[in-house]
Amino acid sequence: MLKVDEVKRKLKTKVIGRKIIYYDEIDSTNQKAKEVAMHEEEGTILIAEQQNAGKGRLGRSFFSPKYKSLLMSIILKPKIKPENATKYTLMTAVAIAKILHRMKVKVGIKWPNDILYEGKKLIGILTESNIESTKINYIVIGIGINVNIKKEEFPNEVKEVATSMYEILSKEVSREEILIALLEEFEELYLNVDFKSILNQWKEYNVTLGKQIKVIPIAEETFNAKAIDIDEEGALKIETDKGIETFNAGEISIR
Ligand code: BTN
Repeated sequence: MLKVDEVKRKLKTKVIGRKIIYYDEIDSTNQKAKEVAMHEEEGTILIAEQQNAGKGRLGRSFFSPKYKSLLMSIILKPKIKPENATKYTLMTAVAIAKILHRMKVKVGIKWPNDILYEGKKLIGILTESNIESTKINYIVIGIGINVNIKKEEFPNEVKEVATSMYEILSKEVSREEILIALLEEFEELYLNVDFKSILNQWKEYNVTLGKQIKVIPIAEETFNAKAIDIDEEGALKIETDKGIETFNAGEISIR
């Protein structure tokens, strides 16, 4: 079981994770976070040992086995313009990449926000927001980290494309340690918000730009392109036979 008391004792943050709501089992921490966000304080996190309906991007599910992963959602209420909301996804990816590099796990960020290790997915991020025309009510940042999952425990559909800290480091890893490091790094970036620097750091850790990719739009045929850049909103600039386009609704694979 996650030692929540130890985390609370050691955590040196002012806002992020000051309140931790812990579940043994839940459908989805993101779902629950959206239900409670309006009356919870900024920085509150929801964390579960197991999710029965863990959500991934684009309506996918996220493998969430008991006691093996870090499955959490952070509630944010930033007082910034709604158009800046997506930037917090880039910020999260940067915070995660930084702490993992410190642990000598050299991950890369695949657009928009998969954290990969040697091409395999280690961490997923799902951001969901409640935005009015002029104001952000809340942003929920969902993070799922495959910590102590053994290769044979992954379901067949993801066995070849997913990895875990256990597989990378060949040993059990403390979930408390990762959680504390992540919340502290996230707070550092969040409270000193500098989106220009976040974008530069995102580019530093990214494994997408400059690559030949397959573009997978939500409702259209896939096509090939080259990933050129990302813009300030986190959209991908791609080059095809027709010229340069901006792509934001779907995903890519690296060819
Ligand atoms: C993806 O890779 O498509 C995003 C996966 C996000 C998974 C996390 S686990 C905690 C939080 N609650 C959810 O239901 N999903 C996110």
